[in-house]
Amino acid sequence: MKINLTTTTQTDLNVTFIEKNEIENSPHSKVLNNAGFSAEQDSICFLHESALLVCGVEDSENDNIRSATSVAIKALKSANYKSVSFPVTKENIPAIVEGIILGGYEFNNYKSKPKKSKLKNISLVCENIMELQSTFEEAIIIAEATAYTRDIVNMTPEDLNPPSFADLAKKLAKENGLECTILGEKKLAKEKMGSMLAVGRASRHDSKLIHLCYKPANAKKIISLVGKGLTYDSGGLSLKPATSMVTMKMDKAGACAVLGMIKAVSELKLDVEVNVFIGAVENMIGGDAYKPDDVLVSRSGKTIEVRNTDAEGRLVLADVLDYAQDKVEADYLFDFATLTGACMVALGQYTTGIMGHSNKIKHALYKSANNSGELIAPLPFNKHLKKQLKSNIADISNISSKPYGGAITAGLFLDNFIKEENKERWIHFDIAGSAYTETPWDCNVYGGTGAGVRVISDFLKSLK
Ligand code: BES
Ligand code: ZN
Ligand code: ZN
Repeated sequence: MKINLTTTTQTDLNVTFIEKNEIENSPHSKVLNNAGFSAEQDSICFLHESALLVCGVEDSENDNIRSATSVAIKALKSANYKSVSFPVTKENIPAIVEGIILGGYEFNNYKSKPKKSKLKNISLVCENIMELQSTFEEAIIIAEATAYTRDIVNMTPEDLNPPSFADLAKKLAKENGLECTILGEKKLAKEKMGSMLAVGRASRHDSKLIHLCYKPANAKKIISLVGKGLTYDSGGLSLKPATSMVTMKMDKAGACAVLGMIKAVSELKLDVEVNVFIGAVENMIGGDAYKPDDVLVSRSGKTIEVRNTDAEGRLVLADVLDYAQDKVEADYLFDFATLTGACMVALGQYTTGIMGHSNKIKHALYKSANNSGELIAPLPFNKHLKKQLKSNIADISNISSKPYGGAITAGLFLDNFIKEENKERWIHFDIAGSAYTETPWDCNVYGGTGAGVRVISDFLKSLK
């Protein structure tokens, strides 16, 4: 499917957006009324004889345009038109590009006979190409990086395991001119990463720490992006119930998101140095598995009492965050993780929870979320929840002693591994709900959503 920006329409069909109060003045009002179409948000009506697809929108807000475009593109992909056009403006072109690329996204790698769409060409029709060209190109890069993240989240745990994740990162590094360092278990042992190593011990795959770097000539700022890359989370000996284990291939979504982010930034050629650190590990069971009651010595020297092997993401991140802080002196340190089911309980499935000490960064991120159409919300730390991580035999316990506030206590656990000088630079993103969906919403379809890529691309574009 090709998307091009143009000033003329010569396509098989034109898409048009319409609000409720615009129906009566439409030249097609009679047919639309006969069809029972009342321009509800996300409702559509084909007027085949007029070569039109009419899409209802509540108003011209980008969130509504993106959602309506997603509905339109799905209908168009199963129709028989070869070329279609959408009207675009400078304001709504990113939303329309996202609706087309992300709303029309399909993952067919495991289908033996994937359906083929007839739709080949999509024209975005504007008045002045020059005025929209760069916004158009940026939107394509960001949407495609988001689709790239989805592609890897959707891969099976057999296909995407820690070593093959490292290979994938190497491939991206080669294609996009990034520096790439991979540490296997021998090197992780030399680094004294006892916390991360314990999680991967029962897996037949070697755990990997992946570091990629995009280094532009005149970087204005440096950012480190850390991703939880659990290529499978069975829960370990604190085994998940059967129904909770299904979808746990998505526990690598934080790692997939940071790869999408560095792909976007390197293609946008932003003046920001981006370092990606991924802990790629598989949490399995077996005679060699780490156990509840173990005490682990993390890279930082802090000891951790394991009380639940299913709270493994924080154990991996503790060591990767510590390593990242020693390797790069960054202005911003963000981590992305499908860390807790509790985050979904707190915020619902659509919203990413963000935690950290800097209100300034949280505020900027909130703005970027609004610009990009992702949903984020802050979850506040407090000293009472912090106490719940106390251990009787080690420096800290890997789970809270109480059942409430689990997303925040997980964030507070990570806070223990953030060095004093980085406290105001660090933000933790819990994407447990937002990274994966089994029911379509907005421009998201079944599977990985690519959560994080759009909001961080906007944030990094805004850095001065
Ligand atoms: N990967 C899970 C969190 C998760 C759950 C992500 C559902 C996406 C959907 C994480 O490793 C986990 O199992 N967390 C436990 C923590 C608990 C043992 C303190 C959880 O959320 O139940
Ligand atoms: Zn787990
Ligand atoms: Zn997990």
